[in-house]
Parts: sequence; structure tokens; C-alpha cells
Amino acid sequence: MAALITFYFLLALVSFTNAADPDMLQDLCVANTAAGIKINGFPCKDKVNETDFFFAGIAKPGATNTTFGSLVTTANVEKIPGLNTLGVSMARIDYAPGGLNPPHTHPRATEMVFVLEGQLDVGFITTANVLISKTIMTGEIFVFPRGLIHFQKNNGNVAAAVISAFNSQLPGTQQIGAALFAATPPVPDNVLTKAFQVGTKEVEKIKSRFAPKK
Ligand SMILES: *[C@@H]1O[C@H](CO)[C@@H](O)[C@H](O)[C@H]1NC(C)=O
Ligand SMILES: *[C@@H]1O[C@H](CO)[C@@H](O)[C@H](O)[C@H]1NC(C)=O
Repeated sequence: MAALITFYFLLALVSFTNAADPDMLQDLCVANTAAGIKINGFPCKDKVNETDFFFAGIAKPGATNTTFGSLVTTANVEKIPGLNTLGVSMARIDYAPGGLNPPHTHPRATEMVFVLEGQLDVGFITTANVLISKTIMTGEIFVFPRGLIHFQKNNGNVAAAVISAFNSQLPGTQQIGAALFAATPPVPDNVLTKAFQVGTKEVEKIKSRFAPKK
């Protein structure tokens, strides 16, 4: 009897802590992104074929001549409609020497990175503000728990690249700097000056750095 109660208790615990993408109710549900209907995910397309499940977009390195010296190429449901309802996706990130994938979170997924080439200094920060960080090399893996702020920096002198895996068809990305300093409409200066304990001048300076280049 006690064993049975323990079993049901554990079962309840498992089902209550399962908070990934919802489970699928059919073999496949290829996203119809043109349906114009708002639901949790996308409605299913009528006719499907192999192209709905295929993507060659992360086969080659992305151009890293960006502000931060890194480029994320997503391979999620927006690129691969066949991923709709399947609860997984990937990405490729390329880093120039010195390149940074700046601090960001994925509200809907845990991420695993596998280093394709080069080496990276990576880390995430817990809700207790503890930094968990490590240098990872070609062939190695690191995990960023769902929702926690994390980053990757290429401190090597050659290019680096990773393949990322996510337990969501669309993990979502919120870059901390851009969210606070480049939102539309803007987050009020008086919120940012108080939050960061600096003056309006400093806030305006950071905002100007995030403004689109002309
Ligand atoms: C697959 O379907 C798409 C339309 O969704 C069509 O454009 C494409 O030609 C089809 N490919 C094959 C190989 O049948
Ligand atoms: C990055 O480099 C490519 C060529 O390698 C060029 O086409 C592109 O305009 C450059 N982008 C920026 C933002 O400089």
C-alpha cells in the first residue's frame, strides 16, 4: 500500500513538473503558417511532402561580421514547418575570434550546445545569481537550463561554431541588452536609471549603441 502511494505521489510529481511543449496528438501536423489563425502553435497543412521536414540552412558557417561577432541561424518551426507539435528544434551559432553571443534567455526551452569547431567560454546564471561557467572544446557539450540567462564567448584566435538543440519547436530568444535598451516603444529612462543605479546620460549612451546603424 505504502509503495503504491509512493508510486502515485511520484507520478503526480512527474506530471506536474513536465512543462515542455505540449505533447502531440497525431503523427504529424506540418505548420500552415499562412492560415492566419492564432492558436498555440500552428494549424496543420493538408498536403505535405519531404520538403516540410528538410532544412539545409545550417550546413554552412554563417557570416559573423555582426555587432557582436556572432551569428545565430535557427532551425525551428519557422524554417521547418514539419516541426510543428514535435517539441524540438536546433540552431547553429558561428563566432568570429572574440565573438560573443550576448546574454539572453529562451523562455520555452532548455538548450544543449555541441561544439563543432574551436573553443568557447560559456556560462549561465542561476536565479540565486550564481555563475556556472566553463571553457568547452570541439566535440564537447554544455547545457543551459530553460529560462536562465546564458552566453557564449569565443576567446580563441580562430573561428568557433556550435550546433544547439532545444526541447521546443520555437524556444524564443530574449536578449537582455536589446530587450531593455532597444524595445519599441522604449523602456522609460527613469526605469533604467533606477534599475541600474546610473544617470540618464549612461542610459542614453547604451540606448544609442543599440539603435539601428544608419
Ligand atoms: C512539396 O510541396 C510544396 C508545397 O508545399 C511544393 O512547392 C513542392 O514542389 C513539393 N515538392 C515535391 C518534391 O513534391
Ligand atoms: C558581411 O560580409 C558579407 C560578405 O562576406 C557582406 O555581404 C555583408 O554585407 C557583410 N555584412 C555587414 C553587416 O558588414
